[in-house]
Amino acid sequence: MGGKDLDYSPGFGNEHSSEAVSGALPVGRNAPQRAPFGLYAEQLSGTAFTEPRARNRRSWLYRIRPSAAHPPFRRVDNGWLRGAPFRDVEPDPNRLRWSPLPMPDEPTDFVQGLVTVGGNGDVLRREGIGIHWYAANRSMERRVFSSSDGEFLIVPQRGILLIRTELGVLQAEPGHVALIPRGVRFRVELPEGTARGYVCENYGQPFQLPDLGPIGANGLANARDFLAPVAAYEDGDEETEVINKFGGNLWAAVYGHSPLDVVAWHGNHVPYLYDLRTFNVLGSISYDHPDPSIFTVLTSPSDTPGLANADFVVFAPRWLVGEDTFRPPYFHRNVMSEFMGLVEGAYDAKAEGFVPGGASLHNMMSAHGPDRTTFDRASTAELVPQKIDDGLAFMFETRWPVVPTEFALGGSHRQEGYDRVWEGLERHFGL
Ligand SMILES: [Fe+2]
Repeated sequence: MGGKDLDYSPGFGNEHSSEAVSGALPVGRNAPQRAPFGLYAEQLSGTAFTEPRARNRRSWLYRIRPSAAHPPFRRVDNGWLRGAPFRDVEPDPNRLRWSPLPMPDEPTDFVQGLVTVGGNGDVLRREGIGIHWYAANRSMERRVFSSSDGEFLIVPQRGILLIRTELGVLQAEPGHVALIPRGVRFRVELPEGTARGYVCENYGQPFQLPDLGPIGANGLANARDFLAPVAAYEDGDEETEVINKFGGNLWAAVYGHSPLDVVAWHGNHVPYLYDLRTFNVLGSISYDHPDPSIFTVLTSPSDTPGLANADFVVFAPRWLVGEDTFRPPYFHRNVMSEFMGLVEGAYDAKAEGFVPGGASLHNMMSAHGPDRTTFDRASTAELVPQKIDDGLAFMFETRWPVVPTEFALGGSHRQEGYDRVWEGLERHFGL
């Protein structure tokens, strides 16, 4: 199956429907006495049945065999994957930074290549997030994965991901994100042989588009730029290992067929592909720059209005035109905790050290901002209109501190001495 030739169904949060075989999708009812072509009907609920209509997520799947027909799941090795609550190490107030996760030497697929950085909340209470890196060098073969603990927001940094899901196929490249809903099974293939990137596993309410308030009806991430897959099914009797992340641990059961056997579906609990380059960046056209929440692509709300369980934020190419303004991100201390990654290029608050594939973590109330080189340059720069178009950075911002894993603190790719970035910021005070 081709990559760029894939068909998609545009729109975020709306009701999509798709059938790989004409007539496979029942008309007029969800559960007819006999579904077309002898298919089994199955509802996949991403929210409680009774949640308000605007938040309700569910899809109806019409499949060759029901998901229920499987032997017991048994515990399998977690590798370096972890789930909240995170108790490996004490919460750490220090600013942390990492070089890219090394590529594996051994054959490693997407699931084997998942390494948890840290997180917060509790998977069993459906709140908080887990943050993972992945580095893989082979396609998943005869196995699929799903997380009962949360949805997977995948940010590829290197290498194409061909993601075959129960609802169809997505091709995610660096610069794209893929969003796989809670419970949806998928297999990741690597057309280029290797891949590396980041994952925000959102245990909380599903990601949604942020409200726009005075911005109006359009702007930031536009709903029409999100792409859902179209139905594509596998009709195979090869044994397939189904790996389920549940309660922070991995469990597996062997099905006697491919569970990617959904011939038709409709609903709004669906995977999405989104090209970050389509983000409509808004900002100041007078002075100062808005808080980085202006760059929010998707938000997972909490029960407190305005307080996100997690925000996914992108620092996309944009113009800076502020007059009498320190233009890079300002020095600040934030009650929210910020994990940043870099897909390509450079980030305008750091002259060096924050590299594509790398990451930084600025936890609750930790002081951060531009490094000295950036401060000196930005303080004296001539304030002509400036295009920032040499990088694509992003942030997972979350309501609670991110507790790192032992792996993240002790990994060889952790950069020691990150604090030195802010050395040499001398006093300029003078009366
Ligand atoms: Fe920050």
